[in-house]
Amino acid sequence: MADIAPVLKAVVPAAGLGTRFLPATKATPKEMLPIVDKPAIQYVVEEAVDAGLSDVLMVTGRSKRSIEDHFDRAYELEEALRAKGDDERLEAVHESSDLAIMHYVRQGEPKGLGHAVHCARQHVGREPFAVLLGDDMIDARDKLLQRMIEVRGQHGGSVIALMEVEPDQVSAYGCAAIEATDEEDVVRISDLVEKPAAEEAPSNWIIIGRYVCDPAVFDVLEKTPPGRGGEIQLTDALRTLADMPAGQGGGVYGVKFRGRRYDTGNKLEYLRTVVQFAAERPDLAAEFVPWLREFVRQHDGVGDAADS
Ligand code: UTP
Repeated sequence: MADIAPVLKAVVPAAGLGTRFLPATKATPKEMLPIVDKPAIQYVVEEAVDAGLSDVLMVTGRSKRSIEDHFDRAYELEEALRAKGDDERLEAVHESSDLAIMHYVRQGEPKGLGHAVHCARQHVGREPFAVLLGDDMIDARDKLLQRMIEVRGQHGGSVIALMEVEPDQVSAYGCAAIEATDEEDVVRISDLVEKPAAEEAPSNWIIIGRYVCDPAVFDVLEKTPPGRGGEIQLTDALRTLADMPAGQGGGVYGVKFRGRRYDTGNKLEYLRTVVQFAAERPDLAAEFVPWLREFVRQHDGVGDAADS
């Protein structure tokens, strides 16, 4: 029953307004905000490539220029670095333009994640494809996308990524009703609920920004009316797919992810991510970590005092 069509393409939606990061995101997509010295979206493209997906379609919105420029050659900059003999930085500049075969499609209006994914229809065609949210990073040491592609190969249908949260946090996310399968980390999705009240949540497993979609999702998205916030929600389309028969591209599975995820679209998580990445960087850790320790020592109790 499993569909053996391989997953070869990645779609990276990066056309949201990023209102939580204004004014920084007035003229820059939030996906371009740096995690130390590399934009979050480059980590996301690296993850796709690492999972074998070197055909990457970016869904961009206003201020898309910086994304396109980042993944393109920068001749003037390269020449200047070459003239200075700065090979290390020259290599860093090359890295992003040599990474993948990049394609771009414009989402004219930010009408929701489901609408952004639908914009990929022409490029993707009738193949299964991966969706990686451009502001959601998975640690390179944790091979989530590879596992999701494997599950799609075994079961067909679509696959979503799930993370367990405390019951009082469920109401901030899309939440999944799950049924066990023979494999401990794989569940069948029977329903999806957007931002449920804690007492109504079907589980503590929330949807995070990685998907492997059957191409049937495009027909479903076309018929999906705007949901929460007037936006076309990918979650709504996946709920429909979960109820559809396998022969029509239906069936949704979930992979339980227990690794490291960084939600860089959220200010607090963004700050944590930058600190964590800096603390793990061989070129920065020796100076940064002792400074951070001292900073924390000096600030110990400051937040508590302000709270009381
Ligand atoms: P978010 O839900 O984080 O929305 O989108 P947002 O508008 O970008 O950010 P805030 O809430 O206003 O701060 C999740 C992902 O979906 C993309 C975003 O770029 C982000 O990667 N997205 C969202 C689109 O590409 N198009 C849309 O219409 C909405």
